[in-house]
Amino acid sequence: MCVAGARPNFPKLKPVLDALDRLGVATTLVHTGQHYDHIMSDVFLDELGIRRPDHSLGAGSGTHAEQTARIMTAIEPIVERERPDVIVVVGDVNSTVACGLVGAKLGCLVAHVEAGLRSRDWAMPEEINRVVTDRLSDYLFAPSADAVDNLRAEGYRADQIHLVGNVMIDTLFANLDRARARLPALLERSGLEAGHYALTTLHRPSNVDDPDQLRGLVGALEAVAASLPVVFPAHPRTVERLRALEVPGLARLRIIEPLGYLDFIALQSTATVVLTDSGGVQEETTALGIACLTLRENTERPITISEGTNRVVGADPAAIEAAVLDVLSNGVTPRRPELWDGRAGERIGEILLSGGTAATRKRPTDL
Ligand code: UD1
Ligand code: UDP
Repeated sequence: MCVAGARPNFPKLKPVLDALDRLGVATTLVHTGQHYDHIMSDVFLDELGIRRPDHSLGAGSGTHAEQTARIMTAIEPIVERERPDVIVVVGDVNSTVACGLVGAKLGCLVAHVEAGLRSRDWAMPEEINRVVTDRLSDYLFAPSADAVDNLRAEGYRADQIHLVGNVMIDTLFANLDRARARLPALLERSGLEAGHYALTTLHRPSNVDDPDQLRGLVGALEAVAASLPVVFPAHPRTVERLRALEVPGLARLRIIEPLGYLDFIALQSTATVVLTDSGGVQEETTALGIACLTLRENTERPITISEGTNRVVGADPAAIEAAVLDVLSNGVTPRRPELWDGRAGERIGEILLSGGTAATRKRPTDL
């Protein structure tokens, strides 16, 4: 049983679904409905060629407890009925931990794709989801060596940990030509010139839910807009918060609806610089060799700094402006982390197929 629910889950799950299909493994696809707007969900299914879900849970938005509980209550009878051998969850969203917990309690093997990432920031809801999901999991599929180190340091058994590479990058490479083909029309429509614009996304509660923090970030982006057009496809959470803010000069930013996957990849691929608090975008910019400035105090993806194009700059407007100037003068050197080669999904499929069942495997109790 493969689970997706929020925007970044779809590009992560697609390579795993494809690999399992190729290996002749039967899969059931569950969409929790954590994200539900067409542009946050269906557009990804359509553009990536993900089949219609077998089960749509319609969980929707709410507080963490409401959302997590709705997902758990909705998936439980399905898992009970279908008794999958393995439940595959991806990333670090509420859908991930909710379905992992139900699967573990009903005796399924749990596989976590993107295991071992740690920001060590317990105020970040995703960090709690990561730590709890890893603890529930039989299979820990790590995207990078730092994630393996974290898991080892936390005491996980070597036979649970698999360094497989990055599934999000599988999907990026599989779709890059199609995305690039859209670029000329997209740039013309947006009045942009390749290599001469900044692309930004913000949606972390720590950045957008606090009005002072959001005001400071918007001010920094406006300062960047003095030298480069700044395109800002805004997440629905952020749109709500921006509406509530009285921010002068917002008009200097090109705030638009979220983009579909192919358009967003296309715009990343020729941006001068990307300013973001997204996890996935830090990885995609590294794979594309595009400069990324992370507008947070930490990252759970340090490999994008040590082996990529990312820099954590925080939210201080002066630091952000200085970092943009640095990129404009010095550029970045593209590098690619080990195993970010487009074949992570394939490795996961093979490991799952040969991994045995709940009756034959050592379980997480035996840490
Ligand atoms: C969630 C994930 C976050 C991930 C992000 C990806 C958790 C705890 N957070 O954050 O890790 O980086 O998705 O985008 O799981 N909304 C809509 N339409 C939608 C979806 C959401 O309008 O289709 C609005 C609702 O007002 C909702 C708000 O966005 O309350 C936040 O949605 P939610 O899924 O709770 O969290 P995200 O901020 O999207
Ligand atoms: N993305 C997109 N359109 C947008 C912004 C992001 O298609 O307007 C894609 C992006 O390319 C990446 C994924 O969404 O594949 C990242 O999701 P998000 O930033 O919402 O979540 P995070 O990765 O931070 O959990």
